[in-house]
Amino acid sequence: MNTRERWVPADVDVGRPSPARVYDYLLGGAHNFAVDRALGDQLIAAQPNARRSAQQNRAFLRRAVLFQVNAGIRQFLDIGSGIPTVGNVHEIAQRVAPDARVVYVDRQEGAVAHGRLLLDGNDGAAVVRADLCEPDEVLDAPETRRLLDFDQPIGLLMTWVLHYVPPERDPVGLLARYREALAPGSWLTLSHVAADVMPDRVAAVAEALSRSEDPVFPRTYDEILGLFAGFEVVAPGVVPAPLWRPERPADAAGARERCGIYAGVGRRT
Ligand SMILES: C[S@@+](CC[C@H](N)C(=O)[O-])C[C@H]1O[C@@H](n2cnc3c(N)ncnc32)[C@H](O)[C@@H]1O
Repeated sequence: MNTRERWVPADVDVGRPSPARVYDYLLGGAHNFAVDRALGDQLIAAQPNARRSAQQNRAFLRRAVLFQVNAGIRQFLDIGSGIPTVGNVHEIAQRVAPDARVVYVDRQEGAVAHGRLLLDGNDGAAVVRADLCEPDEVLDAPETRRLLDFDQPIGLLMTWVLHYVPPERDPVGLLARYREALAPGSWLTLSHVAADVMPDRVAAVAEALSRSEDPVFPRTYDEILGLFAGFEVVAPGVVPAPLWRPERPADAAGARERCGIYAGVGRRT
């Protein structure tokens, strides 16, 4: 289907798959096109748990945001936020704390355009189009400066996004730059495709995406733990996403085999 929907701006190429729309397809959303579904089906063929992993990632994000709201955090910077879908960060946070403020950041125009439509009329949330590999553009964007107070703790969210950053862009160095901008008591929430859980399937996914515009770079447990440098990782540590403070024991059953996403939350000291 190449019908141009209202939420897709004129300059978006709907003939090319985008990670945001493929993820939306995996989650069962409606904001995707035939090319995205074709790539999504290719990923599911390579990794039959792909849909489940996307859901588990989204559930982790919700629990991590609630954890931070309960810890007193009232402002979030959600980088690589994707197409707004069920359970957006501002909905989760503002339901509990109506004064919570959220800045979404994505480099993809379609995700940004759709986010702006959704947030129309919400004074406590905004969307910035920027690349996380350019921290100054993210941190100095007018919406970021208007909504977030960097003298107060912030919840920095980077879920299911850093595996799009190749090693040569130095993800550890990028995170250091973001960490420097955050006040002590801020949090880093991170989830990332694991290279060492079901490695054959992950390698097949990486191969399927290697010639796309958005190749993925799965990382090992130690590499993902290393992304938390300068943050104190809170219990239960960096774990398969469903094992991060599950709400029901059934959520966590068999998580290591079924979920190839490592997730964790750390506090800036
Ligand atoms: C799969 S979505 C993740 C959505 C959300 N964070 C979640 O966990 O549910 C990944 C998003 O990251 C965005 N992205 C990838 N690389 C990026 C970069 N370098 N800068 C900003 N956004 C990026 C993609 O455009 C996509 O919308």
